[in-house]
Amino acid sequence: MHPQILCSGSSASVASRRIRSTLGAVLGRNGWMWKTHEVKLHKTSSGDSLKIGEIIYKLKTPKNPELVPVKHILDSPPQAVAHHLRWILQKDLLGQDMFLIGPPGPLRRSIAMQYLELTRREVEYVALSRDTTESDLKQRREIRSGTAFYIDQCAVRAATQGRVLVLDGLEKAERNVLPVLNNLLENREMQLEDGRFLMSATRYDKLLQEHTKEVLDSWKIVRVSEDFRVIALGLPVPKYKGNPLDPPLRSRFQARHISYLPFKDQLELLYKVGTNVASERHRFELMDGHHIPAPSSVLSVGSSSDLEGHADVTLHVADKDITFQVPAGTKPLNPNKRSSNFISTPSHSQLIAEMIQSHMGKDMCVIGPKGCGKSVVAREFAELLGYSIEPVMLYQDMTARDLLQQRYTLPNGDTAWRPSPLVNAAIEGKLLLLDGIHRVNQGTLAVLSR
Ligand SMILES: Nc1ncnc2c1ncn2[C@@H]1O[C@H](COP(=O)(O)OP(=O)(O)O)[C@@H](O)[C@H]1O
Ligand SMILES: [Mg+2]
Repeated sequence: MHPQILCSGSSASVASRRIRSTLGAVLGRNGWMWKTHEVKLHKTSSGDSLKIGEIIYKLKTPKNPELVPVKHILDSPPQAVAHHLRWILQKDLLGQDMFLIGPPGPLRRSIAMQYLELTRREVEYVALSRDTTESDLKQRREIRSGTAFYIDQCAVRAATQGRVLVLDGLEKAERNVLPVLNNLLENREMQLEDGRFLMSATRYDKLLQEHTKEVLDSWKIVRVSEDFRVIALGLPVPKYKGNPLDPPLRSRFQARHISYLPFKDQLELLYKVGTNVASERHRFELMDGHHIPAPSSVLSVGSSSDLEGHADVTLHVADKDITFQVPAGTKPLNPNKRSSNFISTPSHSQLIAEMIQSHMGKDMCVIGPKGCGKSVVAREFAELLGYSIEPVMLYQDMTARDLLQQRYTLPNGDTAWRPSPLVNAAIEGKLLLLDGIHRVNQGTLAVLSR
């Protein structure tokens, strides 16, 4: 090899410099680098607006603020997210529907919700599953005092009220379900079961020049709002399991690939979360289970005096007693008066200590063979932290609806719905015990993931 070439840089770096100067000429000043975009809210006397990069969106006041997503946005979103938000804003301004596609995880939904929160838009969210039917999207038939009538469902409500319909898990819907939305997506039109006809805003307004609103009402024509949009979320199929999208439907959407956040953004998020951690300790290590000291037992549990709804817990971890706070249930904590017949074996008390530690984070899954004590341990855990338990036995053919709602008939024949024990547990702050989670279809459980 030529020593001169080595001195002036490797051949790879020469090549990359050449490409950079060529591309720079093509793309302009910021061509080579990804532009950074700022997400900003502007308050002016003529109304508030949102600015992402150079694009401005004029904010409207929502009619139903309770339907606008909250608590999704971060102070300053990572750059990758800002790029996605800017893209969504562009498509939204053009009146186009979107399909955010990418690997499993909550990022797509989070970005969609962040966008809706930023633009103060009302959302109609639906988690699709293989049990989702046409009537779940359009209209549901109910009976009241002997007569049947229809209740608008998410897609119709979004269209008429100008909301954003978020269809989560497109690949989970059966193939014949989503095509009912084809015409609504393409022409903003849809024939409803109750005889009404949804018509695009432009066509409706044209008709309104020739006829009065009363006439259009008598023809059962309903205007689709110009603010109606659809954001679909899903996995690429194949690669992941699911139903591939019907090509005509697919072509209705502008698609964007949303992948995991790049390392740089992840790191920045970590810096933000751990502001008082010294920077030399911001280091990633793949730890082998054996090196993490596991707590061996629970020493004490008591109501926390500084944090309401929490318990002070002291665990014995690697020869040290460590006290921290975890969320707790509504029952008074009284560790001395526990009447359960739980026998504290070393392995079970260690498991409970680890579960309490995990409880600082999110929900948990206890896995083990039949009869190893999962149910007793879960009950003991609830007892310790003052939770009332709501056991829900899961079975194989359980549908997504069974998890959330139960339909029943009143003595006079009227149809009615009641929330499932699962939903009640959430409302009342109980500990939900989903027993036999391996038995239900995985797509069915996905309705709980939001
Ligand atoms: N630590 C324990 N203390 C008291 N009983 C226990 C304990 N571990 C297991 N058992 C008993 O063993 C049986 C099986 O436990 P269970 O929690 O129902 O198992 P799983 O839910 O994992 O199938 C139950 O009758 C339970 O009472
Ligand atoms: Mg059990």
